[in-house]
Amino acid sequence: MKKNKIAQPKGKLGVLIPGVCGAISTTLIGGIEAVKAGNGKPIGSLTQMGRIRLGKRTENKNPLIKDFVPLADLESLVFGGWDIFDENLYKSALKAGVLERPQIESLKEELSAIRPMKAAFDRKYVRNLTGPNVKKGKNKYDLALQLMDDIKGFIKDNGLDRAVMIWCASTETYIPDHDVHSTVAKFEKAMKADHPAISPSTLYAYAAIKCGVPFINGAPNLSCNIPALVELARKNKVPVCGSDYKTGQTLMKTIIAPGLKARALGINGWFSTNILGNRDGEVLDDPASFKTKEVSKLSVLDSILKPEIFPELYKNLYHKVTINYYPPRGDNKEGWDNIDIFGWLGYPMQLKVDFLCRDSILAAPLALDLILFTDLAKRCGMGGIQEWLSFYFKSPMHAKEVYAENDLFVQLEKFENNLRHLMGETLITHLGVEYYK
Ligand SMILES: NC(=O)c1ccc[n+]([C@@H]2O[C@H](COP(=O)([O-])OP(=O)(O)OC[C@H]3O[C@@H](n4cnc5c(N)ncnc54)[C@H](O)[C@@H]3O)[C@@H](O)[C@H]2O)c1
Repeated sequence: MKKNKIAQPKGKLGVLIPGVCGAISTTLIGGIEAVKAGNGKPIGSLTQMGRIRLGKRTENKNPLIKDFVPLADLESLVFGGWDIFDENLYKSALKAGVLERPQIESLKEELSAIRPMKAAFDRKYVRNLTGPNVKKGKNKYDLALQLMDDIKGFIKDNGLDRAVMIWCASTETYIPDHDVHSTVAKFEKAMKADHPAISPSTLYAYAAIKCGVPFINGAPNLSCNIPALVELARKNKVPVCGSDYKTGQTLMKTIIAPGLKARALGINGWFSTNILGNRDGEVLDDPASFKTKEVSKLSVLDSILKPEIFPELYKNLYHKVTINYYPPRGDNKEGWDNIDIFGWLGYPMQLKVDFLCRDSILAAPLALDLILFTDLAKRCGMGGIQEWLSFYFKSPMHAKEVYAENDLFVQLEKFENNLRHLMGETLITHLGVEYYK
């Protein structure tokens, strides 16, 4: 197979983060500094620890992914971003309470050096938060222009070769599809008219794409996931992907559901609930922000189980998801699932999962991988939706004519075969007949 032309990752890569003072951002940036200093391992990150099989099983070729594809290294990353709080990242990390205090103290110098730029923020879209570090502008278009100036200034001031933007800010209120999202012209006109269907996250995405900077959407709100911005990204050859990191409960769901379906076991109920006490939990305590999350969390089962093809097994599935804000747990979320399944002759059984996880510890490695892979995509000339990165998202962006692929194992195969394809390696089909001739 022919290897694609890939520009090498020379120079420094800027990582611009809306929500840079938050729990995921500080865990990501602090974590990378800790790894660089040899004070921890990047567990959960495929770019740092994952391997990929190449060729036949008899060849025993399993290189590290980072030795197989040309990725930017951790030393080349330069972090910056925006937040509504005007605090350096050392103070923000202490507040987030994810990393332990002695670890944060050992990173004090690096974290204190990063201060957020003023955010494009409007309380109408995140009703449970207020902060002082917010831009003023004539209208939404003016705010987008200010964000573009921030991006260009950050690249110039830090002598960067290129940059990516990753949304780690709060989940915005639910905004249904609207005509102003349909084309770039309508979107730009609506920004100038301060249209309510244009939320701050879409301004960041617009600014990034206009500046040629790949955009990753880590939350379920719209940001780059509207036709106007997908079209702009495709035209400008800028990679975009999202939405909503697949970290805890949904990760488990997309592992278990394909397994039950693989054995033709029926499911008639899936009850999922969470307790979460961090700032994200506080934001999601507002029903309008929770609605955005709920739509994202509910979307996964149908596309895996396909009740329209398997009505006897999945047509009556009742799927319920809730999140309860419970401050004592902080970032240490507990996700419970009760799954009512049925087997041979319809006899009922139950499966219970209680995942005592750490939200940002699970999210940080995904954010790192997405930063490095979207940068790779840009250097490969791949613009528009990056469906091969579906593996990382609860609600993957996809082409209009296909459904979203949510099965983790199909997503992994898609992801690995894309890497093999980029590097001109033979794709692995798992047919395996050659071993039995
Ligand atoms: N941690 C996980 O496992 C996980 C999984 C999937 C998705 N997410 C999503 O990732 C996002 C970040 O999560 P977190 O736990 O770090 O949340 P967080 O509340 O700790 O951090 C979000 C930060 O964004 C800032 N912010 C809000 N609106 C902004 C704007 N318009 N511009 C700039 N900054 C803004 C807030 O001030 C806050 O500092 C949330 O939307 C969350 O729903 C998290």
